[in-house]
Amino acid sequence: MASAAVTAAVILPSSKSSPLLSSRASSICISSAESSVAFQRARPGRSAASSANGGRLASSVRAQVTTTSTEAPVKVEKVSKKNEEGVVTNKYKPKSPYIGRCLLNTRITGDDAPGETWHMVFSTEGELPYREGQSVGVIPDGIDKNGKPHKLRLYSIASSALGDFGDSKTVSLCVKRLVYTNDQGEIVKGVCSNFLCDLKPGADVKLTGPVGKEMLMPKDPNATIIMLGTGTGIAPFRSFLWKMFFEKHEDYKFNGLAWLFLGVPTSSSLLYKEEFEKMKEKAPDNFRLDFAVSREQTNEKGEKMYIQTRMAQYAEELWELLKKDDTYVYMCGLKGMEKGIDDIMVSLAAKDGIDWTTYKKELKRAEQWNVEVY
Ligand SMILES: Cc1cc2nc3c(=O)[nH]c(=O)nc-3n(C[C@H](O)[C@H](O)[C@H](O)COP(=O)(O)OP(=O)(O)OC[C@H]3O[C@@H](n4cnc5c(N)ncnc54)[C@H](O)[C@@H]3O)c2cc1C
Ligand SMILES: NC(=O)c1ccc[n+]([C@@H]2O[C@H](COP(=O)([O-])OP(=O)(O)OC[C@H]3O[C@@H](n4cnc5c(N)ncnc54)[C@H](OP(=O)(O)O)[C@@H]3O)[C@@H](O)[C@H]2O)c1
Repeated sequence: MASAAVTAAVILPSSKSSPLLSSRASSICISSAESSVAFQRARPGRSAASSANGGRLASSVRAQVTTTSTEAPVKVEKVSKKNEEGVVTNKYKPKSPYIGRCLLNTRITGDDAPGETWHMVFSTEGELPYREGQSVGVIPDGIDKNGKPHKLRLYSIASSALGDFGDSKTVSLCVKRLVYTNDQGEIVKGVCSNFLCDLKPGADVKLTGPVGKEMLMPKDPNATIIMLGTGTGIAPFRSFLWKMFFEKHEDYKFNGLAWLFLGVPTSSSLLYKEEFEKMKEKAPDNFRLDFAVSREQTNEKGEKMYIQTRMAQYAEELWELLKKDDTYVYMCGLKGMEKGIDDIMVSLAAKDGIDWTTYKKELKRAEQWNVEVY
């Protein structure tokens, strides 16, 4: 990995950090922080998130591929990021997992949010090298109802390759606690998400991987990167955005356009909002940020503000961006969002006489349409 410096650091809430970690982390904050980001609970009652940029578009963004109204723009063949050198996969398998240690675990949704989401950091000592966009497996402690060890669950990595402390020795996750009522009216707790959200600093955790190449970032530092996330689907985008805006790399200086759409139920469940606002302050021409707060916001027709509803407000702009061969779309989170986004794209493409299904296939082939939904 090329040398890099972190210009933002994590401030740990003192009540939740272990003594061991507090001393280590605070020295990191002092020595490397240009600006700092605190993991604070979203405060209930704060104003609802709104579209942060009011339709402003960086002047450098222009469609580079023009098209007649009847044919889809031709995509340029590129070298596959999936063959990128140095991307590690499956270093640790379920039979011999890496044992990481929980360094920090903090709730990042407000008390009145529907459900709990936690941000957690695990030590890797550099032994579990990963890239932005990959996932890790977690094997929860304990046994299942058949007396067998639990199976692993996958989690998108929420930290950049350098990790939250900038030393390439940690990996962070963003985990929603799964709790639901079954058909018999019983409350059921998801095994792994509850195991993770309840972890205390100092606890060991079995990690596998890293896995996944679908969500790897494009190498081009001048690309347009459109990120569509719902809930904890924000994880890979936090990882991208830290690399783009909080870190200094010898071989990568982002100078394109990053546009994040994040869909959450309430303003108290807006994840990493302060971090993203800090990024916007640092790079207003390179970062656009739009929230869709489904249970608090509506569009002009009074419809629920889902991520695709917010995107529809920028439909023409998004479609123009999608005609450029250096625009990359990434989608992560709830499965349902994929259809909603397809629906708006169908009508946009149709206006240009383009069949969206065919066009999307081309985008996928060119690795410009990347989806990891669950
Ligand atoms: C590539 C990938 C990345 C992921 N990244 C993340 C991430 O970053 N953060 C994150 O929080 N999650 C992520 N997930 C989801 C994660 O892997 C787990 O599926 C999730 O945490 C639930 O696991 P669990 O062990 O808590 O639940 P389990 O004990 O496995 O229970 C889940 C099961 O409960 C049942 N169930 C769930 N909800 C209901 C309901 N409402 N009604 C009835 N039955 C229900 C279903 O049968 C479901 O399969 C990711 C998944 C994938 C595939
Ligand atoms: N790589 C992956 O595969 C990956 C990575 C991370 C997370 N995940 C999964 O993604 C999901 C995220 O859940 P979460 O609980 O964290 O999210 P959440 O906080 O509940 O937020 C999800 C948001 O999406 C909205 N939504 C619901 N249906 C939608 C639809 N059809 N189209 C668009 N938006 C819709 C919700 O609105 P309402 O609730 O108001 O209807 C809510 O605003 C989980 O299932 C998690 O396991 C997968």
